[in-house]
Amino acid sequence: MKKIFGSAALKNIPLKNRLIRSATWEGIANPDGSVTETAYEIYKELAKGGVGAIITGFTSVALHDYYFGGMMRLCDDSLIPQYKKLTDIIHAEGIPVITQLALGAYYREVKGRFMQVEPDDMTSDEIQYVIRQFIDAAIRAEKAGFDGVQIHAAHFFFLSRFISPAVNHRTDEYGGSTKNRSHILLDIMNGIRKAAPKLHITIKINSSDFTHGGIEELECLAICQLLDQAGIDSIEVSGNGTSVSGIKAHVNEGYFVPVAAKIAKRVSCPVIVVGGFRSLDGMESVLNQTDIAFISLSRPLLREPDLPNKMKADSTIVSQCVSCNACYSSQAHKCVFRKRNTLWCFDSMSRQKEVPS
Ligand SMILES: Cc1cc2nc3c(=O)[nH]c(=O)nc-3n(C[C@H](O)[C@H](O)[C@H](O)COP(=O)(O)O)c2cc1C
Ligand code: SF4
Repeated sequence: MKKIFGSAALKNIPLKNRLIRSATWEGIANPDGSVTETAYEIYKELAKGGVGAIITGFTSVALHDYYFGGMMRLCDDSLIPQYKKLTDIIHAEGIPVITQLALGAYYREVKGRFMQVEPDDMTSDEIQYVIRQFIDAAIRAEKAGFDGVQIHAAHFFFLSRFISPAVNHRTDEYGGSTKNRSHILLDIMNGIRKAAPKLHITIKINSSDFTHGGIEELECLAICQLLDQAGIDSIEVSGNGTSVSGIKAHVNEGYFVPVAAKIAKRVSCPVIVVGGFRSLDGMESVLNQTDIAFISLSRPLLREPDLPNKMKADSTIVSQCVSCNACYSSQAHKCVFRKRNTLWCFDSMSRQKEVPS
């Protein structure tokens, strides 16, 4: 019988339990991707809260990725010491940390201005450039002390759109069949494996795009099998419209479990499932009724970063998160039900500046 609070392992990473913090973008990094003091505090609190491993928020591989504000970035070697400080803070609590490598969108420079370009309009050189950006960011992640990297191929950001038949109509080796559209993921994964062999490589993927003409369950299964055969270390299953509202403990938890369970039956690597977990018995029943190996949480840890410690002490405790999604628009994506101790504003150079309240 699998228990949440027992030791477990992802390849290259020992974990003290089967709870993983799913990537949660805080929106508080400086425009150049540098890490703010508030972020260090957020991750220290999370690491102390008892979770088995942490996946960082959305970390762009590019400087000129304007998809949304406040993204961390591993786009330049000069940032490595700041990210080393982050991994040191988390490791000091004995918790492993994986950085989520992502690209919101690809932007082409035209006469000094950056324009968003969709997959169909990218040149072959531009695709190779993006692949290289992911590999270079992973090399920086390894130097900064991260235990692993997560390739963000979910939620209709760049990679998720690139592999979706609703968006990608290319006729070269990066478009057309499932295998061709997945080619970019395999190039990134193989490149990282070669350049940074110590890193655990995981991927976050859509079980469904929930979009007309997009990826659906069967194609997701096929992509996961391709990744598994090529040697991915683990797969986190999500889907578009990821943060479903109206979740209640013991009533409607774990909305991606049906597809994640099918994936877990067909692949040899561990499967992590995210989405709407609020109770310990809800999570343990998934671990024991399916081949899913790990559960990941986002909003419950915004509400209570120490929820794992609380659940370990009292198995009847359920998450206080009411799935209202107000944290998406709050300052620093803090749960609106939590007391705030830090405010920030922008200085004259559009850099975020922290103001103690
Ligand atoms: C404020 C906020 C920011 C998020 N940022 C990210 C992100 O950076 N990368 C990502 O893959 N998912 C992100 N998500 C989605 C979560 O990782 C998770 O998949 C989703 O919220 C469902 O899980 P939950 O019910 O445990 O919250 C975010 C969710 C929230 C609420
Ligand atoms: S604001 Fe708080 S209660 Fe609402 S979804 Fe976010 S974490 Fe949960």
